[in-house]
Amino acid sequence: MSILITGGTGYIGSHTCVDFIKKGLDVIILDNLSNSRAEVVDYIEQITGIRPKFYHTDLLDREGTKKVFDENDIESVIHFAGLKAVGESVLKPVEYYRNNIVGTLNLIDEMRAHNCFKIVFSSSATVYGKPKTVPIKEDFPLSTTNPYGTTKLFIERILEDLCVADDRFSVALLRYFNPIGAHESGLIGDDPNGIPNNLMPYITRVAKGVLPHLNVFGNDYETRDGTGVRDYIHVIDLAAGHYSALKCLEEKGVHIYNLGTGRGYSVLEIIEAFERVNNVKIPYIIAPRRAGDIAECYADPSKAAYELGWKAELGLDDMCRSAWKFEQLNTRK
Ligand code: WQD
Repeated sequence: MSILITGGTGYIGSHTCVDFIKKGLDVIILDNLSNSRAEVVDYIEQITGIRPKFYHTDLLDREGTKKVFDENDIESVIHFAGLKAVGESVLKPVEYYRNNIVGTLNLIDEMRAHNCFKIVFSSSATVYGKPKTVPIKEDFPLSTTNPYGTTKLFIERILEDLCVADDRFSVALLRYFNPIGAHESGLIGDDPNGIPNNLMPYITRVAKGVLPHLNVFGNDYETRDGTGVRDYIHVIDLAAGHYSALKCLEEKGVHIYNLGTGRGYSVLEIIEAFERVNNVKIPYIIAPRRAGDIAECYADPSKAAYELGWKAELGLDDMCRSAWKFEQLNTRK
């Protein structure tokens, strides 16, 4: 029996592949390489000693997706594949809805046609919109402020409705906060195409001299130092959270968990930690607020701790150190 990881050459997907292979699971990767490179499969093999089967396929390609299920005995799916840039989604909503939602519907069709009824979905804290209070619990109200977040919310609803209609399914909705860091080897990490949207890959490229300075998007928020506060979680901890989530799939129905550390750091605190740990300077300027940003967002991760026996173990220093090591080793074109 195998586990299909859609988006498995991506940032979180590749780290999850490594975690699962090291824990003895048989992993198959499906990825369209729209925001990652085929070399990641080589790196996964280099780290684990095992080369996972890789299908260069798009979930919008019905025949290609069917082929993956026809050729393998897939017991469950970890579904990462999707477009994920908040700003880009505002400019290209139709592409985001088609890619993320239609892709998921195609995946569900092939799962049903092949008696595969277990899925873990890569959701996001963005479904909480602008939370009234923090820390955030799983039963907080849901709302979204951009098409990317709306695709996550819609897919959660689709999977919930699927479980009501078909009691063969078990679904885990994992709401990630802010994944950063990289595998200790420095071979895999957050390697977005073009200018990074997210804070940490932008910082590492400033440290490398590829970008001149960091723009801090606003320092007038209602936070301890005026800059945005987020729950940064090491991608290694996040990957392990997916392994823990497999347990809950033994039970039918929908299971929802926040995957965060329960602690928030501000942008200025991230800069300070990165400079201290790596002995580098990160020049920055205070820039206007970014549209759609909220002041503060961090998790109450107690439900995952209680029900899955999972909690984040790695600290901010290791997140900063590993992110910088990956950037230094990464000879991205
Ligand atoms: C973090 C903080 C910015 C860049 C988004 C999505 C979420 C997930 C992670 C995909 C904020 C500030 C950032 C920069 C800055 N996406 N910042 N200068 O927006 O919390 O979450 O990415 O999986 O679903 O919503 O992450 O890293 O973009 O921003 O000052 O150049 O850093 O204002 O306070 P965000 P982020």
